[in-house]
Amino acid sequence: NTILYNDSFLAREQGKVDMEDRGYQFGDGIYEALRVYNGKMFLLDLHMKRLERSARELRLSLPYDTDHLVENLDKLIRDNQMDYGYIYFQITRGAIARKHRFPLEKIDCVLTGSIEATTKDEDLYPDGIKVSLLDDIRWLRCDIKTLNLLGNVLANQEAFEKGSADAILHRDGVVTEGTTCNAFMVKDGILITHPADHFILNGITRIFVLQLAERLGIPVEERTYTTDELLHADEVFLTSTGERVAPVIQIDEQLIGNGVPGPISKRLLDAFNGEVE
Ligand code: PDD
Repeated sequence: NTILYNDSFLAREQGKVDMEDRGYQFGDGIYEALRVYNGKMFLLDLHMKRLERSARELRLSLPYDTDHLVENLDKLIRDNQMDYGYIYFQITRGAIARKHRFPLEKIDCVLTGSIEATTKDEDLYPDGIKVSLLDDIRWLRCDIKTLNLLGNVLANQEAFEKGSADAILHRDGVVTEGTTCNAFMVKDGILITHPADHFILNGITRIFVLQLAERLGIPVEERTYTTDELLHADEVFLTSTGERVAPVIQIDEQLIGNGVPGPISKRLLDAFNGEVE
């Protein structure tokens, strides 16, 4: 297994991180996760744009430009011979004696990336999933894809302990998103999802699913909605790079719709699968 380490390629065991890396100490860094279908990175430009935005928001300068990064990720795919895979990479502000403020001298970022094999995963959740509804205790810049994920981690663990596949989060009764994914609901044929502001990560899959909905003539509203609306929705589903479109059939004790994946969720997943074959 080869990994990307800054601008070089190493065996997995050789990738070592300094104990004073700011990513390790503060979660001071950013990341992206993307899928490889048929040897090609899916929705690559959107992922690179989001990476550049995350870097700007944290005033972190990338070690090299995204064109070169794309070349390196392509090499990572070829070196590991993976036609279907999941790429994860992160960039931290670098390693230096621990102080909260940014380093005064220029230090090098640390970039690490790896790829793992996946299957084609057309229909990961044919029967849908159960989720829990939990408080969103995260900070107020959920739009930045940072390494700081404790609010997500704690909620995801709590959901797991409740026998759920994930949690849908809410702030004072307003639904935001999942712990690793965006949340959508359908009511009376209208697709509704939280607007892309500071309260959610603007998922690349979210953007793509909104485009698919437009193409299929499904009306869309990007607006906030309450937990009450969510629990009485006709359909609910989650979207992410790993899950594509995951139908939610139960939220805690409440069945959604008829307790089976709904027709609009299925149409969107079919359309999605059609794009990545
Ligand atoms: N999670 N919201 C949150 C909080 C996320 O962590 C993610 C992705 C998404 C969906 O984004 P996208 O469609 O670009 O994958 C929404 C990644 C995959 C992760 O942390 O592993």
